[in-house]
Parts: sequence; structure tokens; C-alpha cells
Amino acid sequence: MTIDSPFGAILTGKVALITGGGGGFGRACAQLFAAAGASIVVAERNSTRMSETVDLIERAGGAAVGVVTDVSVEDQVQAAVTTALDTFGGLDIMMNNAGVSSTPGIGIDDITEAQWDLVIDVNLKGTFFGCKHAVPALRQRGGGTILNISSGAGLVAYPGIPVYSASKGGINQLSRALAIDLGRDNIRVNALCPSGGMSANMLLDPDAAQVDEAAQWQDWNPSSFYAPLWRDRPPVMADHANVALFLVSPAASYLSGLALASDGGMAAKAAVDVGRLLENWSTTTN
Ligand SMILES: NC(=O)c1ccc[n+]([C@@H]2O[C@H](COP(=O)([O-])OP(=O)(O)OC[C@H]3O[C@@H](n4cnc5c(N)ncnc54)[C@H](O)[C@@H]3O)[C@@H](O)[C@H]2O)c1
Repeated sequence: MTIDSPFGAILTGKVALITGGGGGFGRACAQLFAAAGASIVVAERNSTRMSETVDLIERAGGAAVGVVTDVSVEDQVQAAVTTALDTFGGLDIMMNNAGVSSTPGIGIDDITEAQWDLVIDVNLKGTFFGCKHAVPALRQRGGGTILNISSGAGLVAYPGIPVYSASKGGINQLSRALAIDLGRDNIRVNALCPSGGMSANMLLDPDAAQVDEAAQWQDWNPSSFYAPLWRDRPPVMADHANVALFLVSPAASYLSGLALASDGGMAAKAAVDVGRLLENWSTTTN
């Protein structure tokens, strides 16, 4: 499948490192950023997925290199940044995207320390390592940008996934805090909080084959979906990848410290039945 950049070759000459770039959203962004002219470092735990993404980019005429990386291991994240410097001569864009879900529906009584550690180590500590080791390389270029992939679950709580929500809330705050500290180095730091239309693979076996995105929504009906925005098609990864591309591009050069919802208005919606509230209120005040 050919991926086109909606903003043309806006990343020409840039080098982007994407963690978790072997699958799902990371792969979608790797292909899109390459289509926009960037050279891509695919840092991925699963070597088969990693090579597939590199192949897809190269077959489309782009430049990419893979490096097997577990983002929860500091040395491996540092080595991924070194790969960018050795292969492409620098780093301009760090996208900390690798993430895992906590097991849905497990309540606080049953969450084990090991489950907590896995999600926090990959999602939050992995993002910390990515930021830490990218910064010296970004400084060498006179500035750059970090995009941390958070979730709608980092802005508002989703039921049944407290550890995941905590990890993503942490990513939002880390991003805001680093935006303040790194502004003087001309480094922009933002978090993207997608919801809806993301990779179904995240809830499957970690090494499962990539789910066909188009097959996910058989009977699309916006009225039964949680996002307020009604469209004639379901949300897809490209909706969020286009926002990511904009955020890492020079077109967003004054944007930093955001935790930006990409969610069809979902985070703007409160679960309040205003009609009933007003009814109760008028009854109690009469
Ligand atoms: N899937 C969703 O519904 C959803 C919604 C909002 C945000 N997100 C976030 O989007 C990001 C991308 O996830 P996705 O939806 O594409 O899921 P995904 O499972 O399809 O892709 C995640 C990729 O990260 C890799 N990975 C996992 N652990 C890793 C590690 N320790 N080191 C390096 N790579 C690792 C996986 O092998 C996979 O290729 C994550 O941060 C996720 O939390 C996902």
C-alpha cells in the first residue's frame, strides 16, 4: 500500500527515530514520515516486524534502518540513538511510541506488581529513556522535536485499565515538564493522545500478525461510537498519523508542551445527563 503525505515532502532532510516502529501506529508513522522525506530508524522489540517496516519503506523509495530495541532497557535505547547518528548522521525527531496495554478488566485487588512493572517499564520508563538519550543528539542539531505517544486514557480515565491510564498520564506530564526544561535548547516536546481507530494488535499476543485495519469495522455506525464527531467512515490510524506528522514538522514549530487529543471530540464530552440533572435540580429548588 502506498502512503502519501498530506503535507508533501515536509520532512525532507530530517532523521526520525520511531520506537515500536515495527507495528501498528509506529509502522504507519514510519511509512508516512518516510513519504514526507525523512530517513527512519525503526527501533522495535520484534525483529521480524522491524524488518517488515524497513522493507515497506525501502520498497516505496525511502530510507530506513532497523535496530532491535526493547525500550525498557536503557542501553538498547541509547544504542538506537547511536544507530541514527551512525547511519544518517544525526537525529531531528524522536517519537516514543512503543507501548503495551494492561490487561483490561482487572481491578485494583488483582493487579500484580509484575503487571504494574511491565506496563510502567515499557510505556513510561521507555519514554523517559527515549527522551533522555535523544536530547544530546537533538542538541547537536541545534534543536529538534520529541513526540511521545500517549492516549486518550492519559487525559481522562478509561474504565478497567488503571495501570495503562496511569502510564499515559505520566507521559503527558513528562512531556509538559520537558517542554519547559528543553525549550532553551530549541527542542519541542509534545504528547499525542489518540482514541479510536488505533491498532487492534495492542490487545493481541505481542507477536501476532498485523491485523488488517480495514477489516476492523464491518458495520460502521457513528451513532453507536463513543466519539461525538459523526463521519461516513470510522477513525483510522492515518487520522492520527497525519496529526503526528504535523506535530513533528516545521509547520508546528511554535507548538510545545501539548497533550493533544486526537479523538473526534471524545475528551470534550462529559458523561453527564444534563436533562436529568436539570430536572433533579428544578425539583430540589422548587
Ligand atoms: N491501540 C490503541 O487502541 C491505542 C490507543 C491510544 C494510544 N495507543 C498507543 O499507541 C502506541 C502504539 O501502539 P499500537 O496501538 O500501534 O499497538 P501495537 O501493539 O500494534 O504496536 C506497538 C509496537 O510496539 C512494539 N513494542 C512493544 N513493546 C516494546 C518494547 N518494550 N520495546 C520496543 N518495542 C515494543 C510492539 O512489538 C509493536 O510493534 C502505544 O504507545 C499505545 O499505547 C494505542
